[in-house]
Amino acid sequence: MEGIEGRSGTEVLAVTDEANHTEGGSFALKVEERTETWHGPALRVDPYIDTGEEYNISVWVKLLSEESTELQLSTQVGQGDNASYHNLDGKTITTEDGWVQLQGSYRYSSTGDGYLTIYVESTSSTASFYMDDITFEPANSGGTDIEKDLPSIKDVYKDDFLIGNAISTAELEGSRLELLKKHHQLVTAENAMKPAYAYNEQRKFDFTAEDELVDKALEEGFQIHGHVLVWHQQSEEWLHSDENGQPLSREEALNNLRKHVQTTVEHFGPNVISWDVVNEAMNDNPPNPSDWKASLRQSGWYKAIGPDYIEQAFRAAKEVIEENDWNIPLYYNDYNDDNQNKAEAIYQMVKEINENYGAENNGELLIDGIGMQAHYNLNTNPENVRRSLEKFISLGVEVGVTELDITAGTNNELTEGQANAQGYLYAQLFKLYKEHKKHISRVTFWGLNDTTSWRAEQSPLLFDKNLQAKPAYYAVIDPEKFLAEHEPEEKEANQGTAAFGAPKIDGTVDDSWSNAAELPVNRYQMAWQGANGTAKALWDKENLYVLVEVKDSALDKTSENAWEQDSIEVFVDENNGKTSYYEVDDGQYRVNFDNEASFNPGSIAEGFKSATNQTHDGYIVEVKIPFKTITPVNETKIGFDVQINDGNEGARQSIATWNDTTGTSYQDTSVFGELTLKGVETPKEPDIEKPDDEPTPKNPGQEKPELEPTVITKPKVEDNQATVNDAIFDQLAYNGELIIDLSEHSSSIAISFTEEQVKLLKQLHALIMIKKKDVTLQIPASIFTNGNQAVDIILQKLEQIEDALSAVYDFNIIQGDKEISEFDSNIIVSFVVNKAVAEHSNSLKIFYLNPQLEKWEVVGGEYKNGNVTAKIDHFSTFTVFEEDMETMVDAKDEKELPDTSTSTFNFLLGGLILLLIGASTFLFKRKRKREI
Ligand code: XIL
Repeated sequence: MEGIEGRSGTEVLAVTDEANHTEGGSFALKVEERTETWHGPALRVDPYIDTGEEYNISVWVKLLSEESTELQLSTQVGQGDNASYHNLDGKTITTEDGWVQLQGSYRYSSTGDGYLTIYVESTSSTASFYMDDITFEPANSGGTDIEKDLPSIKDVYKDDFLIGNAISTAELEGSRLELLKKHHQLVTAENAMKPAYAYNEQRKFDFTAEDELVDKALEEGFQIHGHVLVWHQQSEEWLHSDENGQPLSREEALNNLRKHVQTTVEHFGPNVISWDVVNEAMNDNPPNPSDWKASLRQSGWYKAIGPDYIEQAFRAAKEVIEENDWNIPLYYNDYNDDNQNKAEAIYQMVKEINENYGAENNGELLIDGIGMQAHYNLNTNPENVRRSLEKFISLGVEVGVTELDITAGTNNELTEGQANAQGYLYAQLFKLYKEHKKHISRVTFWGLNDTTSWRAEQSPLLFDKNLQAKPAYYAVIDPEKFLAEHEPEEKEANQGTAAFGAPKIDGTVDDSWSNAAELPVNRYQMAWQGANGTAKALWDKENLYVLVEVKDSALDKTSENAWEQDSIEVFVDENNGKTSYYEVDDGQYRVNFDNEASFNPGSIAEGFKSATNQTHDGYIVEVKIPFKTITPVNETKIGFDVQINDGNEGARQSIATWNDTTGTSYQDTSVFGELTLKGVETPKEPDIEKPDDEPTPKNPGQEKPELEPTVITKPKVEDNQATVNDAIFDQLAYNGELIIDLSEHSSSIAISFTEEQVKLLKQLHALIMIKKKDVTLQIPASIFTNGNQAVDIILQKLEQIEDALSAVYDFNIIQGDKEISEFDSNIIVSFVVNKAVAEHSNSLKIFYLNPQLEKWEVVGGEYKNGNVTAKIDHFSTFTVFEEDMETMVDAKDEKELPDTSTSTFNFLLGGLILLLIGASTFLFKRKRKREI
């Protein structure tokens, strides 16, 4: 344990015989009294390394304290403000795990100015642990010549935008410098120029380390972007808060802010080409993004100064720049820039601040650019990046891609599939960046190679641990080629059904749920597999109902964040639009086991109802979600998902879902599964025998009582015009049948439906049965194809003709300005025939008059109980004849053509048809009639 020291000096390190890992040994190092996450034992390794060599590093650790935590093995290169820190391995462990090995390898391509350590730290700031058996050996993997013949990224994009990278001093020597220079012309200090490093211990400005880095970078010919002036992290607390953490007065904090900004900008002057003035001021996924002020992070700066601290910071920087006549664009920089709510809030903020400033300053911009950090992962949807990018560009500002990386693997390993998927997303992004090159100032990668990335474990960069190009590099230099040669990963949406019905929302599983199919909620988003369960869905015209039965042994809602509590979430995309962002029809509904609900966006809370109950092995949640934009019908498909969050000691340790494993459902509906809403009955083929029977309401015993499958109305008839009462529609069920009883009428009649009625009939998928004394029509509402316009169904009775064995009718449907004359779904017509004439019932058929040929043609039909019934697929004039041997009968020679019964003809011609359709068909008929 020689040479091991505490990183802070305050943690207590002691050799103990309480534990031991070495075979034959009896001691280990005990690490206690840590108070910060970075505290822990460190071993200097600079005496052992040859620069450029790779080393295998391993250490055994055993957790002492109660709670579970992640222990991490890392290496530090360099000291002070210019140091860089590289994570080699990390494992989340409990005391029960005993001794656990942490191991990794690292290539020391720089000497770190003679200061290199390996160390162990923990995500919990107080965890104590034992450490034993440290090994540090050359990997003997050979040198690290960079690939000198590869095309240089900066050359490929020389006419488009600058190519940058994040650096510490380690990047400014040896092969790292060679690689940096080959591909980039711009650098951002990964840490050195952050506010925390601008002061010495006496709170006086001290830019020594920064200057060293800047001078070196300039010497090597790089341009430098300044990162960052105002941030809630890596910043001195005393700038805005007192020693008790309470905010300073606005005046004091504002003074500190202005002083910090102006001194720093002044100090670096035109050595930097642009500045991130404010970093990460916005909350993640803010629920009401149009109110940008309400969307701001409650940072120390915000608390002391208020929402205008952002504008104040920009104004302070701008003053210095103008005084000195410099040209240094000022940026607002943020992450999760692909989140549409966050992008909207940023957009609103920049818009307002720039408009206010522009009004006073001849339209000049205060915020010149927006930095999209671009810390992405394999679930990032490039369409969301596009949306945000275009939104920002629309403000007339320039956009910088400022910290690009794409996490893909785990444990410092990347499978071939992951490497290609990562390349694919890099290619999609660069294709997008190229499209918008006019507005993009630079693309900066956040790190040179995987092992030195701040997200090293997930191998997010273009070059691997040996500085060799990964598929991601090839994707960047030729995105089109990469996209053409690789397949995107296809994700198939899970399919499920919802049954028709409405449960009582009381947290108990009543009978109505027995018809609903089970939807297993058991796909895990995280490595830890905790609570899971089963969901079911029901629906009616107004609501979607979801039941989730969760298996979760220990219920926890100690986290302040609703999503980290034991809870279920339901995701709904009503129009199944699969948009990469939320539209008005989309929503996320969350209920914890204690029936506390939360919503995304907040506005969807209206009409939502939930109930919960604890069970022996978990809990039940039952919810009612009102449909916002659709009135669903049978077979309607909606986007849908269910998620179960498993909270544990205030953190979310597991997420199970029915479909999505990307974890992006809160902002991207394309990752939802699909739910098909099934009707009470399967859509019925209209029943041919129906007209015969008295229309008795069907299935009276069926659940879902308040809506009827069959409703009968006897409309008021005035001047041969029937209108249907609105009230009747309230009783009509989905797939229901509306019987219009006109059985007392045998003359011409027109039945009118208003727009509202047509809309309902269509939504309900209704069947309309018009029952007259001498004829019955069954019409599916789906044939009303002219939108939701009002409909007139005209049954025009013509004069009786010889040989006809039933009444003679001309049928028409007029919807709005269109005549519906041909239809895909069949209409059923049923004529009453005189039983006495029906001697040969088998030969009774319905005929229609073919107007072109002026001939009667047989349609078909079946006789039963005094009716002949047939399906028709167009409208014309119909009657029943006894079928002759020939199927086509010449009307002129053998059968009469019909005449209208004068009174109804006049009524129709004068009152309705002319108005509605210019009467073309009717005039045609009249003409024809005259010719005869
Ligand atoms: C990161 C650095 O990469 C790490 O080395 C450091 O420990 C934490 O900060 N957004 C930013 C960057 O603006 O400054 C952050 O850089 C990454 C997120």
